Amino acid sequence: MNKITVVGAGNVGATCANVIATKDLAREVVLLDIKEGLAEGKALDIWQTSSISQFNTRVTGSTSDYSKTAGSGVVVITSGLPRKPGMSRDDLIKTNAGIVKEVTENIVKYSPDAIIIVVSNPLDVMTYVAYKVAKTSSNKVFGMAGILDTARYRAFLAEALNVSPNDISAMIMGGHGDTMVPLPRYTTVNGIPLLELIEKDVLDKIVERTAKGGGELVALMGTSAWYAPGAAAAQMVEAIVNDQKRVFPVCTMLNGEFGLNDIYLGAPVKLGKDGVEEIIEIDLNDEEKKLLKISSDAVASVMQVFDDMNLI
Ligand code: NAI
Ligand code: 2OP
Repeated sequence: MNKITVVGAGNVGATCANVIATKDLAREVVLLDIKEGLAEGKALDIWQTSSISQFNTRVTGSTSDYSKTAGSGVVVITSGLPRKPGMSRDDLIKTNAGIVKEVTENIVKYSPDAIIIVVSNPLDVMTYVAYKVAKTSSNKVFGMAGILDTARYRAFLAEALNVSPNDISAMIMGGHGDTMVPLPRYTTVNGIPLLELIEKDVLDKIVERTAKGGGELVALMGTSAWYAPGAAAAQMVEAIVNDQKRVFPVCTMLNGEFGLNDIYLGAPVKLGKDGVEEIIEIDLNDEEKKLLKISSDAVASVMQVFDDMNLI
């Protein structure tokens, strides 16, 4: 790919740009921020690792000059406030909705065909904002959450079972919040059903720790995580750039799938050069359906807060 843009040169954006460059996913990565000099500085620092980490991707920075992002094939939006202790992701909506709206308007002006990956929180609703503003098809606008949430779940399971996290295959659905729905029935250790290998009380604790995984890190660091989120967004970019048809949990527009309509929510999708190429409608049992409904209701209530802002 010729050019990839990452908007927001903060913790998540810079990490994401670094992973994209290290994996040589494009000829150029443009990092953009509103803070004077921040994106240029971080881009220069990452570029100066090229001979150490052995990559060719040029990393450049821009302070608010979107003409530098022109012709991007993929844009990752990480701009916006992160959580502080005591805040939920949903508390961020008032500030971040305006930021995501303005950023998306600028992005589509210079890269009308770009695939847009949203990372800013509250994730499901910010993805909906970008979709509304971009006025493109929903397979080209989606959000990163499920890869991060399953990565946390897989890390906790790997510790509990003393196995490699690489051998754990897992799916999580629902919104990116404490109501997310980890799916132990769809979790295996290299094909062996998880439920044959783990005690129920251990699993229950891991499911709960996963759902609150973002908050655990906020409590430890005073701000939200960035290494795993940045790497997760870069993994989505890689699937698109290399047309890998990877099956990931992604925050995607549901139009009838799982009985839900006109809502962005985490679901299993196939990710390739056209973005979300398919939503995989797995069978859910009654309990899983109930949990998904609770999660979609939680996202819908944040959507309502956004709709009441009359921003679009
Ligand atoms: P950060 O504060 O380190 O970086 C955010 C950057 O956005 C700052 O450098 C800021 O100057 C920039 N920014 C603000 N307004 C802007 C605008 N209008 N245009 C361009 N840049 C602008 O925050 P961090 O930790 O990088 O988090 C970024 C966002 O990602 C937060 O909303 C956070 O909650 C979210 N997040 C989402 C995750 C997910 O799983 N979806 C995981 C981790 C973070
Ligand atoms: C996370 O899950 C806060 O969404 C952010 O780390």
